[in-house]
Amino acid sequence: MAELTTLASPLDVGGVRIRNRVFLAPMSGITDEPFRRRAHAHGAGLVVSEMVASGELAKGRAGCDLRIRHSGLPVHMVQLAGREAAHMGEGARIAAGEGADIIDINMGCPAKKVTGGYAGSALMRDLDHALSLIEAVVGAVSVPVTVKMRLGWDESALNAPMLARRAEQAGVKMVTVHGRTRCQFYQGKADWRAIARVKDAVSIPVVANGDVGSPEEAATILEQSGADAVMIGRAHYGAPWVAGGIATAVGGAKTQGIPQTPQELIDYVVLHYEDMLSLYGAESGLRQARKHLGWYLDRHAPDVCAEQRKRILTSFEPGDVVAELRRVFVDGAQSTSLRSAA
Ligand SMILES: Cc1cc2nc3c(=O)[nH]c(=O)nc-3n(C[C@H](O)[C@H](O)[C@H](O)COP(=O)(O)O)c2cc1C
Repeated sequence: MAELTTLASPLDVGGVRIRNRVFLAPMSGITDEPFRRRAHAHGAGLVVSEMVASGELAKGRAGCDLRIRHSGLPVHMVQLAGREAAHMGEGARIAAGEGADIIDINMGCPAKKVTGGYAGSALMRDLDHALSLIEAVVGAVSVPVTVKMRLGWDESALNAPMLARRAEQAGVKMVTVHGRTRCQFYQGKADWRAIARVKDAVSIPVVANGDVGSPEEAATILEQSGADAVMIGRAHYGAPWVAGGIATAVGGAKTQGIPQTPQELIDYVVLHYEDMLSLYGAESGLRQARKHLGWYLDRHAPDVCAEQRKRILTSFEPGDVVAELRRVFVDGAQSTSLRSAA
């Protein structure tokens, strides 16, 4: 399929070379540095920081430093959220000072605590204001600026093509479109064909996003939207290798680092766990890692008993968590294969 091989080819974003066209979506609370490192190592074309509130960043609030700090990956892309042009400009300068190669602006987040502050997808209700933020960021930094948006606020206001066109005129170098409206949140199915209207409106690269998790879906979203690249979010739960797996498979390369055996899987999960503990410190890391452990269990050990699952997800002792994980993934798998062999 032509679309599939396209995914393996590089993409130029305002002079920054992106190695392929299958990206990891930014997900707040999920795509932190340990997660992005893994996605990159597996071969994802581009990874993006979790959104950083520009107001908090500009005021030097705790926690922002971890979100924007350079992870050592070849392309460091930081996403900013906010509604004050001055904060967005300052946030962009700070991120660029940390080595950001691309600054992305969040105009797609549907969460009430974000839209309530007129940031995220609420900006799609006032394109003049959205443009003032874009201009502030483009004017503040010399690195490429990109925008991530939804189709519009609701069905009666599908203005993503207009926002994308105005963003391009203001100097934006790529747009990503999640094929839902804000009012849909995550309900229903993303409308991949509607993204084509954005593609028709601009000449910068368009990235299509929403409900993709397999090579076939990646090919279909490209075909239906005409987009230049695909971005994948939730399909990575418990599987940081999804984007990279698709990109390398379609390129004919061997997929990199995807655990194949129960032993490889447990080693992978434990390393991810330990990376989180060392990034956030044991107390915070332990709590933040629980959602990932839950997803690894959901995906790779769905039959784990409730007691064991609870012990893993509530223990405050990292050593106990790791020991229990090993029991589930390795001992559990061995006893299953022994049972089936018998
Ligand atoms: C838990 C969660 C956190 C998210 N955080 C962000 C974010 O920080 N910035 C952003 O632009 N989008 C964010 N998104 C939206 C995703 O980037 C993506 O657009 C959306 O999940 C649809 O893609 P998918 O169907 O592949 O998951 C988030 C989504 C989820 C589920």
